[in-house]
Amino acid sequence: MKSIFSVFLLFTSAGSVYGQVKQRHERMGQSVEFPTEVKNGGNVMYLGKVIAHVISGARRPLSNEYDSRLQWNSSTGLFSLSGLKMEDKGLYKVVRNDGTQSAEEKYQLTVYVPVSKPHITITHNEYPCTLLCAVERGTDATLTWYREGEENYGSSPVHSAPHLYLPQTVEWSGTYTCEAKNSVSTERSDPLTVGDHCTGINTWGIVASVLAAVLLIALIAVVIYFQCCEQKQGETVPDTEEVQEEPWWTFWSWF
Ligand SMILES: *[C@@H]1O[C@H](CO)[C@@H](O)[C@H](O)[C@H]1NC(C)=O
Repeated sequence: MKSIFSVFLLFTSAGSVYGQVKQRHERMGQSVEFPTEVKNGGNVMYLGKVIAHVISGARRPLSNEYDSRLQWNSSTGLFSLSGLKMEDKGLYKVVRNDGTQSAEEKYQLTVYVPVSKPHITITHNEYPCTLLCAVERGTDATLTWYREGEENYGSSPVHSAPHLYLPQTVEWSGTYTCEAKNSVSTERSDPLTVGDHCTGINTWGIVASVLAAVLLIALIAVVIYFQCCEQKQGETVPDTEEVQEEPWWTFWSWF
């Protein structure tokens, strides 16, 4: 029992050193080449099943779809799978068996739908404005906002399209673009420029501060004006008590 366990341990540790799994990320519809030479003998396995066989330097058909989709180049000894479909994802094992030497390499294939061009729409066009970036296609895509002159303004967690949305509340006016990206493709939206009406500095704030400034200046002017008149009147009219009341009445009558 103990020896069986040690043999098992030996095999698993040898396997992990020997056959490290190589990650392959490929576009749907394209082809992938497995860079393991099989010239005289060997096979290709997919999910534990033999899908192609080479014996004595010749391909032996197995009467499956891989006879045509999985090409074998007899001069390079390399296999390549064409017309990739989403269902082709999984573990491939290419085994070389030359009689004296044998080797195997594992490939973990992931098939991606490339991202389509994202589009920006304004979903709320007054303060606080909100933008929405949407992409229709793309496997494991990430959406990222960019504001002109800045990088990586904000990004979404990884999701799977179709219909991947990234909302954004606009704090500053400027030109925004949205980028969709996955392992096999990157696309950017057309830029969208957002005006000042979207920002926190709203027009009522500006109007209020201008009004306050105008009132303050008017008040100072009025004070200066009455101080001057008070002096003039003081020269001609000696009764100061009557004069002091007069200007404040005139001042308040303006409102
Ligand atoms: C096999 O590979 C060689 C070298 O890359 C290439 O020139 C040749 O066209 C390939 N043959 C086929 C049938 O694809």
